[in-house]
Amino acid sequence: MNDSLLPVPSGALQIPERPYLVDSAEQEPIEFSLVLPTFKESQNIASIVQILTQLLDDYLPGQYELIVVDDDSPDLTWKIALELLPYYPQLRVMRRQTERGLSTAVVRGWQVARGKILGVIDADLQHPPEVLLQLLQEMGHGADLAVASRHVEGGGVSEWSAVRRFLSRGAQMLGLVILPEVIGRLSDPMSGYFMVRRSAIIGKQLSPVGYKILIEVAARGKIRWIAEAGYVFRERVAGESKVTWKQYVEYIQHLLRLRFSLWPVERFFRFGVVGFSGVFVDMGVLYLLSDPSMLALPLTRSKIIASELAIINNFLWNDFWTFGDISRRQPGKRQRLKRLIKFNIICLAGLILNVLLLNLFFNVFGIDRYVANLMAIAIVTVWNFWFNLKLSWRVTDVER
Ligand code: GDD
Ligand code: MN
Repeated sequence: MNDSLLPVPSGALQIPERPYLVDSAEQEPIEFSLVLPTFKESQNIASIVQILTQLLDDYLPGQYELIVVDDDSPDLTWKIALELLPYYPQLRVMRRQTERGLSTAVVRGWQVARGKILGVIDADLQHPPEVLLQLLQEMGHGADLAVASRHVEGGGVSEWSAVRRFLSRGAQMLGLVILPEVIGRLSDPMSGYFMVRRSAIIGKQLSPVGYKILIEVAARGKIRWIAEAGYVFRERVAGESKVTWKQYVEYIQHLLRLRFSLWPVERFFRFGVVGFSGVFVDMGVLYLLSDPSMLALPLTRSKIIASELAIINNFLWNDFWTFGDISRRQPGKRQRLKRLIKFNIICLAGLILNVLLLNLFFNVFGIDRYVANLMAIAIVTVWNFWFNLKLSWRVTDVER
């Protein structure tokens, strides 16, 4: 049964609950699937398969698989791997001819994987195989993601040039600025040696760019606990690295793309539009109540009523439109009233903040009053949005 190539999944880069297109005898889940992405590794493939098999046969007999995902290497790595199949019952081989790239290779491999834990390791022997056991142990202790890191106790790089070290660290710093909540949790965000619990990434739409599949997994997965194990990045003995400056450009693109997809940009835009509509309600009501030609009520009283009506206006539109998807999952009058009260409190706190900031910018920093007011409004809009997102509509609760 084990003498041919694996089918190549196509379509979305999503990890299914059950593996893609394998005959039913193979559908039984196993403990661990390790993907070995390869491109021109004909000189390394036999020895890495041999070493990994020896290691895992002891540790997880019958409960693991090795999945080579080769991108139709001109040196026929896939063919050499196929020839190994008779000797290694846990080995499976995929040959991709239409798609390319390290990250997508990893995801395609995971899509056919049967393991409850999904891992990746370079096939060029630069990642010391023994570290796998430490990573597996961490998973056994309950980690959702276990990463081999060059930057913790026991880790390092062997003979990297100063330039490559500098670029690697620089990339990490940049990552911290753009995507702190993800990069800040990883001591070695560029690591290509890690494993993740399948359940943490099932159904997540992965769209990695270039090399950095780890960042994608850490950003989009439901990852509570991350464990790390130190390792020394070994020198390549055979073949050559495929890293070029292009990978750095792709990395930055990737970070920015993640930034925008993790921030609720569209909701924020809607929230802004609704806020703008509130200005007209406020103005209109203020006119109706306080204008001498209208009801001519006292200004303060008019303004309080006008603001409150604007808040209610905004609430209704936000509840129906900005956060409509969430409101519909929290139905009932009581729930809605609760959201309205929270919204109201947060907006009132925002109003106080607005006045304080305006005073600070104008009186203390001496900024022009209208510029100061605009700044205060911008900050308060973000404040209102964020707290309402987290408290009134509790977006994160609903997603769980
Ligand atoms: N299928 C497939 N397709 N595999 C690829 C491709 C590709 O386009 N490009 C590279 N690979 C395989 C290689 O054959 C090797 O097994 C592994 O992916 C890593 O590629 P290298 O070209 O050896 O990368 P490196 O040693 O310079 O980079 C290492 O460090 C990076 C962090 O600086 C790797 O560990 C990366 O995973 C890591 O991100
Ligand atoms: Mn390498």
